[in-house]
Amino acid sequence: MSAAVVLATDRLVAGYSAEVDILNGVSIALTAGEVVCVIGPNGAGKSTLMKAVFGLVRPKAGQIVLNGRAISGLRPSAIARLGMGYVPQRDNVFQSMTVTENLELGALPHPGIAVRSRMGELFDLFPRLAARRRQVVGTMSGGERQMVAMARALMPRPEVLLLDEPSAGLAPLLVEAMFDQVAAINRAGVSILMVEQNARRALEISHRGYVLDLGRNRFEGEGRALLQDARLAELYLG
Ligand SMILES: Nc1ncnc2c1ncn2[C@@H]1O[C@H](COP(=O)(O)OP(=O)(O)O)[C@@H](O)[C@H]1O
Ligand SMILES: [Mg+2]
Repeated sequence: MSAAVVLATDRLVAGYSAEVDILNGVSIALTAGEVVCVIGPNGAGKSTLMKAVFGLVRPKAGQIVLNGRAISGLRPSAIARLGMGYVPQRDNVFQSMTVTENLELGALPHPGIAVRSRMGELFDLFPRLAARRRQVVGTMSGGERQMVAMARALMPRPEVLLLDEPSAGLAPLLVEAMFDQVAAINRAGVSILMVEQNARRALEISHRGYVLDLGRNRFEGEGRALLQDARLAELYLG
């Protein structure tokens, strides 16, 4: 029995202007329980893919399907209500607010969430944040801020979490802690689609990976298989 596909794009075309397409027909799939990473050179369209999936960039062609339902053209707020969370590459926390306030804001558009108990669950998942719940986020380390951003996105109990370069700008030790945290979120039952520059480390913790280049699929496979692929190593793993 094969597990259900929770999120898929099919030949997705998208861009920021009528003339230029950044995604030239990208097809990816995320199965329930998986961590899938998307790697590829700078400018390949990885962030654009995440933005299109979350409804921030309107697709020009192709399909995006969440749990069997076409979501292309829906607004981010509607997509979030259908069970998707998104942590952008930058500006993903409110710097002048505390950890608790950031998490409360994550639940705000979702009136059904029991805020206190959900926060308690997330403090169990992110012990570093539990100890710092009243700290203003702008005074925290980059790694801690990234955890706040992930916890905020998890407040509404999304089934699928999109992470855009969670390790960007983190010192090596913090990168390890961040990837451990991603694995822990996945073990808690969240399917994860993650874009990463840190391709080797990301593939190590991912069930499967996709390589994008120039807005097209280049390679795909199990994380381990991609790590051992000589063509990939030469071109994309550095
Ligand atoms: N807001 C935007 N407006 C116009 N072009 C953009 C915008 N964001 C990204 N691009 C362009 O889209 C291409 C892909 O960018 P991006 O998806 O951010 O790549 P990656 O995340 O793989 O580095 C790049 O050529 C970039 O300049
Ligand atoms: Mg990017």
